[in-house]
Formats: sequence, C-alpha cells, structure tokens
Amino acid sequence: MQDKFAYLQKKHYLCPRKLDNTMIVTANWKDTLASLLARFDREQVLLVVDAAVEETVGEPGWNKVVIEAGESHKTLDTVQHIWDELFARTITRHGVLVGIGGGVVTDLTGFAAGTYKRGISYINIPTTLLAMTDASTGGKTGCNYHGIKNSVGLFYPPLETVICPQWLRSLPSRQFMSGWAEMLKTGLIDDTKNLWSRLLNFDVEASVSDDVELTGLIKDCISVKERIVASDPQESGLRKALNLGHTFGHALEEMSLDSPSPLLHGYAVLYGLIAELYLSVTLSGCPKEPLQQLTQYMLHYYGQPQCKCSDRERLVQLMHQDKKNAHLTDINCTLLHRIGEPAINQCISTEQALEAWEFLFSL
Ligand SMILES: NC(=O)c1ccc[n+]([C@@H]2O[C@H](COP(=O)([O-])OP(=O)(O)OC[C@H]3O[C@@H](n4cnc5c(N)ncnc54)[C@H](O)[C@@H]3O)[C@@H](O)[C@H]2O)c1
Repeated sequence: MQDKFAYLQKKHYLCPRKLDNTMIVTANWKDTLASLLARFDREQVLLVVDAAVEETVGEPGWNKVVIEAGESHKTLDTVQHIWDELFARTITRHGVLVGIGGGVVTDLTGFAAGTYKRGISYINIPTTLLAMTDASTGGKTGCNYHGIKNSVGLFYPPLETVICPQWLRSLPSRQFMSGWAEMLKTGLIDDTKNLWSRLLNFDVEASVSDDVELTGLIKDCISVKERIVASDPQESGLRKALNLGHTFGHALEEMSLDSPSPLLHGYAVLYGLIAELYLSVTLSGCPKEPLQQLTQYMLHYYGQPQCKCSDRERLVQLMHQDKKNAHLTDINCTLLHRIGEPAINQCISTEQALEAWEFLFSL
C-alpha cells in the first residue's frame, strides 16, 4: 500500500501534493491564499466557492465559480460543472483549484481536481467547523451517486489546507454543533492532550471564532487526524479508528436523506457514537463513564434522535450495505476499549445492532 503512494509522490514535479498535508492556521485567509498562489499563473487559478460564503469571498482577483452547497448538490452534475469551467478557462495540468466552503465543496473540489487531466493541485479553505476538523484533511474526495453517500471518489490530498476560524462567525449553531460532534469523536479515539475532557468542558454556547481555546482544540483535532492518516493513508488499518460512530451514524443519515429535514452529518455521528459506545461497553470491555458522559451531553446539546420503531429493520439493512463491510452479511464497526484505545474491525451481529438501536432510541 505504501509503495502505491510512493508512486504518487514521484509525480511531485507535476502536482506537488504532500500525502500528510499540513494545515496553516491564520486569521487572514486572503493574505495566506495570496502567498500560496504567488507561484501560479493568475489565469491558471480557479476558486470553487460555496454560495453561503460568496459575499465574504467577494471579488478576490482570481477566477471563481460559485456552487450551491448542501448534500443534494454533491453530485456528478456539480463535478461536471467544475470540469466545464476548467475547460472553458483552458486550465492546464499546472493549474490549481481552490475549494472555499463546507465539506461538500471541499470534497467536490478535491474530486474535480483529482480527475481533471489526471490530476491538478488544489487547496482547501474550509469554512465550516466540520470541514476544518474533518473533511478537508486526509485526502478523501468524492461525490454521492445513486443516492449513496460518497460512493464515487478518490484518495487525493490537497496541496495545503488553510484554517481560518473567522469563518465560524457566520456559521449557524446547528452547523457548529455538527462539526463539534466529529471533534468529540476525535477526543474519544485519541486522548494524548487530554482532548476528551477539554472538549466536554468547553463552553460551546459561548464559543466565538477568535477564542484561543477553540482554535487550540481545532488544531489538536486536525493533528490527530493527520497523524492517523499519515500512518494509514488508504484506510487499511488504523485509519478505521476515525470511523467510530459512523457505522450507525451513516445509516441514520442515509435514512433521513428522504425526509423533509435530513439529519446533519455530525448529529448522525453523535447518535452513532452513543450506539457504538453502548456496544463498546457490552462487547469490548469499555468502562461505562464515556457512554454516560456522552449521553448527558447529547440530551443537553443535541436532543434525542427521532425514529419510528418500524425504521429499525431499515437501519440494519443500511448498515449491511455500508462500504466498510467486506461481505454483505457483515456489519463492520469500530468500537472502543477505553478512551484513546479504539478497537477496529469489530464484526457485530444483526441482533447486537438492533439492541444498540433500542438503547439509543430509549434515551
Ligand atoms: N472527505 C472527508 O474525509 C470527509 C469527512 C467528513 C465529512 N465529509 C463530507 O462533508 C460534508 C459535510 O460537510 P459540512 O458539514 O461542512 O456541510 P456543507 O458543506 O453542506 O455545509 C453546511 C452548510 O453551511 C453552509 N456554510 C458553509 N460555510 C459557511 C459559513 N462560514 N457561514 C455560514 N454558512 C456556511 C453551506 O453552504 C451549507 O449550507 C458531507 O458531504 C460529508 O460526506 C467528508
């Protein structure tokens, strides 16, 4: 697996990407971007801008294409729209895309960059908490296809990720809490800097974008993900730890896609964490404390998940279809032995899955 990536690194002269891309934390994303783009021909730059931040981006002096964000736009049509803009501007293999937006925009930008002329460089400027701490690090790019989330995509890391917490000023609180749930997950799988208790004790309701502690927590969560991804870029082992909460979470998220108000990704992950911590206690010897702490946290900040009893069979069916499973009969899950000690490749039965859903919906 490592050799495969060594081959990619040989393309350095063409697409100078680092597989463990580094984050730049800045209070002024425009100046940082200008210095990163200084070595590119101005005509060879295309910004892909999330409609929600179009006004803040303004007229930055580079070509730009604005795309509607939200999961319903994470499609091949939008990717095609970006490719069309690249062709229309005769951008060559020495060009660069810059994705400025939430996780939908950064995932789409990376995918368009990775597939255009067999790969051009791209830079991520995430503008949601979730995109900063999760989506724009680690090199996973893609779009939804046939209604299945991220079913078409590439591992294709960005040249650079520019983190500017100022973006969070305009972010609605539900979107903030969605990103926060992924940060809580990070605190559960790696506690080297006492992340879990720092996250639990941080006053999320009073959070402001220039809060020093918040910036520190964002940096620490990104560093955990970077470290894990660097050791296992293509998710053959340790990287699966990052999937904690996602086996149950994705099923809830996918089922809600048809509803008038689909669940935000992070909310689904938070509920998935509760179900998977329940199984960690019953199957992996995990102490009860993190489950109790997270349950209290959920009831206070996220509310209970809504689900009809009849949905449970459907949820389990969706879990069987998860792309992380090796066989259709499996449900592959990441659990926890204790905080900071994930247990990857745990196979759970349909009955165990139903029991965990039962626990979650009884809270
Ligand atoms: N590549 C990865 O490793 C990875 C990891 C986690 C999630 N993801 C993907 O990320 C996506 C979710 O990302 P998201 O939560 O950022 O959702 P999103 O991109 O849909 O953004 C959420 C909403 O916030 C708006 N928005 C963006 N920035 C804003 C700002 N500064 N102020 C106000 N509004 C703003 C967007 O227009 C959108 O309406 C999913 O598609 C998920 O699959 C990818």
